[in-house]
Amino acid sequence: MKEFLADTIKHRIMVMSGKGGVGKTTVAVNLALGLALYGKEVGILDADITGPNVPKMLKIEDAVLTGEGKTIRPAEIPIGLDREIKVVSMAFLIGRESPVVWRGPLKMQALKQFIEGVAWEDLDYMVIDLPPGTGDEPLSIAQLLRPDGTVIVTTPQDLALIDARRAIDMSRSLGVPVLGIIENMSGFSCPGCGGAIDIFKVGGGMKAAVELAVPFLGRIEIDPAICESGDLGRPFILSAASKNAEAFDEIVRKIMAHCEGDVGGPEIGVG
Ligand SMILES: Nc1ncnc2c1ncn2[C@@H]1O[C@H](COP(=O)(O)OP(=O)(O)OP(=O)(O)O)[C@@H](O)[C@H]1O
Ligand SMILES: [Mg+2]
Repeated sequence: MKEFLADTIKHRIMVMSGKGGVGKTTVAVNLALGLALYGKEVGILDADITGPNVPKMLKIEDAVLTGEGKTIRPAEIPIGLDREIKVVSMAFLIGRESPVVWRGPLKMQALKQFIEGVAWEDLDYMVIDLPPGTGDEPLSIAQLLRPDGTVIVTTPQDLALIDARRAIDMSRSLGVPVLGIIENMSGFSCPGCGGAIDIFKVGGGMKAAVELAVPFLGRIEIDPAICESGDLGRPFILSAASKNAEAFDEIVRKIMAHCEGDVGGPEIGVG
């Protein structure tokens, strides 16, 4: 890793899962915004080269990367109150509907460029949204960025947990500590009667955390508002106060506490 990255990006966190569609991008985007709500300077590196979804979840598909010479400037996205987060994604370089059909080495070259060729400047946190699985991307990110840790996202059922285990093993084998497991899509509160319905079961993430000796960061329910917020490009942590936004804030605080010791309350109110 180049000296300047270690100096200028204080904490680097990868969001990983063994399988697709469990909520990595949702977690990455809300984590980045959650950190920004605590006054942190935050960047998101969308490391999913062939399925870059970060721009869609932030409704910034039309953002462009500009640059002078060999240095790309990240897209700077206002999040209110004079704050912004920086984002780099393959989606900014290709047409919205164009598929990227690239073999491994080309994808790795793009990632290297996104890290070393981008003027990220001073950041407190870089959140890295990985594609599903244990492929080349986590390997490259581990080598290029030496992340502080990995956040593992899983759904609660047994099959998903087998994949979460793989992701944990991979992170460990890359020498990147596992910050903990988030159990996403963990139960559903019936809007009619308020009762809990365990659609994909519940508690598996906690069980895996105990078995694999990693911290359990928290659980997020299945919530139609979360799905809707992803489609609308308005991350749920910025929406009206809710049980899930509170649960997510706890997760953000645990991650900050791990990276920098105890933390105070958010600088910007949620709601
Ligand atoms: N807790 C939740 N409740 C309801 N919907 C959710 C929840 N978490 C994520 N979703 C929705 O599930 C879908 C998949 O989420 P997301 O894209 O974050 O997963 P992913 O792990 O990044 O997928 P991929 O492996 O394709 O990158 C999205 O439509 C998202 O809005
Ligand atoms: Mg994703």
